[in-house]
Amino acid sequence: MNASQNTPPPGPGPLSAPGTTGPGVFALGGTVTVPRLGFGAMQLPGRWSGPAGDTEKAVAVTRRAVELGVRYIDTAAFYFSPTHRANDLLREALFPYAQDVVIATKVGPLRDETGEMYAEARPDQLRAEVERNLEDLRVDTLDLVHLRVGRLGAGIADSLGERFEVLAALREEGLIRQLGVSNVTSGQLAEARSIAPVVAVQNRFGVRDQTDAALVDICADAGIAYMPFFALGGGHTALDSEEMRTVAARHGATEHQVALAWGLARSPSIVQIPGTASLAHLEQNMAAGQLDLDEEDMDLLGRRG
Ligand SMILES: NC(=O)c1ccc[n+]([C@@H]2O[C@H](COP(=O)([O-])OP(=O)(O)OC[C@H]3O[C@@H](n4cnc5c(N)ncnc54)[C@H](OP(=O)(O)O)[C@@H]3O)[C@@H](O)[C@H]2O)c1
Repeated sequence: MNASQNTPPPGPGPLSAPGTTGPGVFALGGTVTVPRLGFGAMQLPGRWSGPAGDTEKAVAVTRRAVELGVRYIDTAAFYFSPTHRANDLLREALFPYAQDVVIATKVGPLRDETGEMYAEARPDQLRAEVERNLEDLRVDTLDLVHLRVGRLGAGIADSLGERFEVLAALREEGLIRQLGVSNVTSGQLAEARSIAPVVAVQNRFGVRDQTDAALVDICADAGIAYMPFFALGGGHTALDSEEMRTVAARHGATEHQVALAWGLARSPSIVQIPGTASLAHLEQNMAAGQLDLDEEDMDLLGRRG
């Protein structure tokens, strides 16, 4: 946590410079450097209906992620199942946090104890949401907070100005170090940037769902990290295709590894946050940093933009 200027440790793959394939690194806001293979904590608490969370396993996966070189972890207070909360699991696994581990959270949607996402927080409700994350994670300052707006992947074009101003003020107050936005349109990103510096965008994007390609390029041009959610399909978009199978076979890799490597090759500002509660999948995902996709692979897989 408390990261300022830092140097990431070597991960399992070649830590090549941004702009090349391989995991590489990205400097958030130009100052906080993280490897481009991060980790998403949403799967850790288990499912609302489906396999329950497992504290021991979730803690082991989180610690192993950091051992393997992850320095960027995405979470939210609204990631919880009937039995487990992502923030509690991260705290149990990593507290006291290493200086160079960035834990990024999100505020915006309100979720009740039945699991229902029932509304977007009003501006006057956001401070309490930020304070809840501070409390959960047991820190005085949150490394990075995204304002998540709209419905999943729908990119509602409403103004986010009033809500983002609240987060900008909390940053001025010292409760937040850096700001991001999530599930936004390019217009909403521009609006947020007119209020305070935005270091990261977290939107839906992946090899099999490139709808947001233009925003990926806007972020790269502006030096903003683009953190795609559902880079592995998130259980909503199938990864499987003839092209994916061909590239995977060519590299002796899995389609999930190809999906992650594709994102790293697609844009130098993509920071991957694949979600998993499985040690075996985590190891595979981190090894994706060793995959060097060439132009032929990228042409085959498609690269809208
Ligand atoms: N801002 C937003 O609105 C938003 C929305 C959704 C998610 N997120 C963030 O984005 C992160 C990623 O999203 P996500 O976890 O929903 O989707 P994802 O990373 O696309 O996919 C996760 C799914 O893939 C499986 N998986 C992971 N690695 C695998 C592998 N190597 N082989 C086979 N299956 C694998 C996981 O199951 P196992 O657990 O079995 O591995 C899980 O079912 C989340 O953790 C969260 O931090 C943000």
